[in-house]
Amino acid sequence: MENAYQKLIDGNRRHSLEKKFEDPEYFKKLALGQKPEYLWIGCSDSRVPANEVTNTDAGEMFVHRNIANMVVHTDFNVLSVLEYAVKYIGVKHIIVCGHYGCGGIKASMTNQRHGYVDNWLRNIKDVYNKYTVELENISDLDKRTERLTELNVIEQVRNLAKTSIVQEAWKTRELHLHGWVYGLNSGLITDLKVIHDGKEDIEDIYRFD
Ligand code: CO
Repeated sequence: MENAYQKLIDGNRRHSLEKKFEDPEYFKKLALGQKPEYLWIGCSDSRVPANEVTNTDAGEMFVHRNIANMVVHTDFNVLSVLEYAVKYIGVKHIIVCGHYGCGGIKASMTNQRHGYVDNWLRNIKDVYNKYTVELENISDLDKRTERLTELNVIEQVRNLAKTSIVQEAWKTRELHLHGWVYGLNSGLITDLKVIHDGKEDIEDIYRFD
């Protein structure tokens, strides 16, 4: 058991050999720099690996993951990633990808205390609170959880649109925001079509001059 980590090192050796076998210059090319077109904001859940579920390779996607794929305005981590991706890398698309069966969403719907994460989950409770009428009209708990998962993605996309980082970019270029949900059962992504391509999509109070 204490050697369980060894399979990661072995796997890495195999990965390196395979890539070099396919293309002897593979790592040399990657080392030259990155110019990914996408920023992925996803859940930390081990079952939703960004590159794997989108069939993308190293260098194609800038990635940020946290519990329940949140965009929290006071989180310097996500803001730093967002600013770097938008301002310096110049990504063209930002994708918030939630997933059905999300433990963070489920935990937010209970009254249980879990620890520090409760402060994080409160942001999801706020989404629930905003849509209480719609959500509590859904009697089936699984369906209600699925809907909150979708609404949470929509609200995180809106949170992106409220940032000065995204609004500054919109002044000079195209930057597309997307809200997706990944199905653990199907392996398929659904586009929620919450595209925000300009600040007209958010309420006036959130707009910067
Ligand atoms: Co999750």
